[in-house]
Amino acid sequence: MEVIIQPNAESAARMAARLFTHLIRTKPNAVLGLATGGTPVPLYKQLIEQNLDWSQITSFNLDEYIGVGAEHPQSYHAFMHENLFRHVNINSANIHIPDGMAADPDLFCQSYEEKICAAGGIDLQLLGIGTDGHIGFNEPTSSLASRTRIKTLTARTRKDNARFFGSEDAVPFHVITMGIGTILDTRKTVLLATGKNKARAVAEAVEGPITSMNPASALQLHRSAIFCLDEEAASELTRTDYYRWVFDNKPAWQVI
Ligand code: F6R
Repeated sequence: MEVIIQPNAESAARMAARLFTHLIRTKPNAVLGLATGGTPVPLYKQLIEQNLDWSQITSFNLDEYIGVGAEHPQSYHAFMHENLFRHVNINSANIHIPDGMAADPDLFCQSYEEKICAAGGIDLQLLGIGTDGHIGFNEPTSSLASRTRIKTLTARTRKDNARFFGSEDAVPFHVITMGIGTILDTRKTVLLATGKNKARAVAEAVEGPITSMNPASALQLHRSAIFCLDEEAASELTRTDYYRWVFDNKPAWQVI
């Protein structure tokens, strides 16, 4: 696990964006795992500015609300189109986002896992983190071995996401999300967290015990997980001197 602390949200996003830029340049047919929410918006802006070639890229998004169609302005389909896909030359046939309107969600979830496998697995997964430690929509007490499936949002997450829907009542209860096991299978993952409200969840995930009560703590088992944080999100970590030293003294072969 690597912890990179940057002065502000913009530079934390830039650091995470560098990993994506490097991958897209060195592996033009890479498979990306993508996230939505407020945090990745500056990262997507920076990726768009790089004028990269997305023509052979394949993408899989983490999650989608059940009962929310692609045309709904708060759907994650709409979010991805607006914030990334309409600005780059990705082939729409290579875009995968869970279908919140699937007639048979269980079957859909199984086929989503099969498609990730058929694509060769995810090379680089982007994650945000909920104030309760969720990754994707794997809420506290999610199985650490879970695969793509239906989950029920906690009251806290519905409250946190009310800002997108205008009111808490409008936030759906159910979602389709990649599982924690699905995320752990990705080759590399970068979790971007910014803002004071993420500090507790980040500290528990990085320095606490591995527990389903903080799903992001499962990333301690990931073969290559990087936390890109701003100062505020890092403010409850206790070993920041060490993380900063590691970052400032990287051998040349480790630097992207
Ligand atoms: C979104 C997702 C969620 C968000 C998390 C943080 O695809 O999987 O885990 O990353 O809820 O959201 P923001 O960035 O809005 O604070």
